[in-house]
Amino acid sequence: MLKRRFFKKNSEYNTEIPKIVVNGTSGDGVNYNRLKDNVIFSSDNGKNKIFQFESAVSGEGKSTVVANTAVALARSGKKVVVVDLDFRRPKVHKIFGVNNLNGITEFMLGECEEKEVIKTTEYGVDVVNRGKLTNNASIIFTSDKFKEFIYSLREKYDMVLFDCPPVLLVSDYIHFSPLSDNVIFVACVGVTRRSQLRDAYELMVKSNPRILGTVITYRNSGKFGSRYGGYYNSRYYRGVKSNYLED
Ligand SMILES: Nc1ncnc2c1ncn2[C@@H]1O[C@H](COP(=O)(O)OP(=O)(O)OP(=O)(O)O)[C@@H](O)[C@H]1O
Ligand SMILES: [Mg+2]
Repeated sequence: MLKRRFFKKNSEYNTEIPKIVVNGTSGDGVNYNRLKDNVIFSSDNGKNKIFQFESAVSGEGKSTVVANTAVALARSGKKVVVVDLDFRRPKVHKIFGVNNLNGITEFMLGECEEKEVIKTTEYGVDVVNRGKLTNNASIIFTSDKFKEFIYSLREKYDMVLFDCPPVLLVSDYIHFSPLSDNVIFVACVGVTRRSQLRDAYELMVKSNPRILGTVITYRNSGKFGSRYGGYYNSRYYRGVKSNYLED
């Protein structure tokens, strides 16, 4: 079972695009390595391969956590692919510095081959991007072709990480749950309300009860914090609190 991991406020994140910060020596690098160890342990010797990262609302650090966990796994010798399933706000290609051409959308439309969808990165992690914007995400996610694609990733990789949209904003988790083995929640201090996490958990557990635990992130207030004000009433703690999340 995952313990709650506390990711500290970190100036390395003062950037619009989430960053890879795993360096294995200090700060969040150490936390990500611990998270990586939990993921490996939960894989049950390779039986559980697909990890679905979810959160209640927006901007809680999902994409950052997925990307850094993937890099930590790759550095441990695992063959890992990150699949960007957040069709509303895809970020994986930006984090890993690859182009967003030939993504899932193009593959599903028959405009490119499977091998063109999987992109290698300088971090030793492979990624699958959304590709171009589509209004038919749920048609894509319920198609046999999409399911076969995910099965094929399961065959090719040790670990497949899903970067998903927030549960309370988009119901796509319903389509991903049958395909994944485990769920990891991400919640952010001062951003996620306790009631939101509870609501999201209750929705999630009905579609995928294999929820390993929650990663707690903590991000800086200021410039980037205000960007998310439209989704929730955000407040920021100055330090660590025993009760992490607001009611
Ligand atoms: N531990 C942290 N400390 C400080 N800032 C962070 C931390 N984790 C993430 N951030 C910053 O918070 C912002 C949102 O992070 P991220 O995009 O990973 O969240 P998300 O949950 O994927 O958001 P979305 O719902 O939009 O997909 C980014 O600017 C990122 O750099
Ligand atoms: Mg994201």
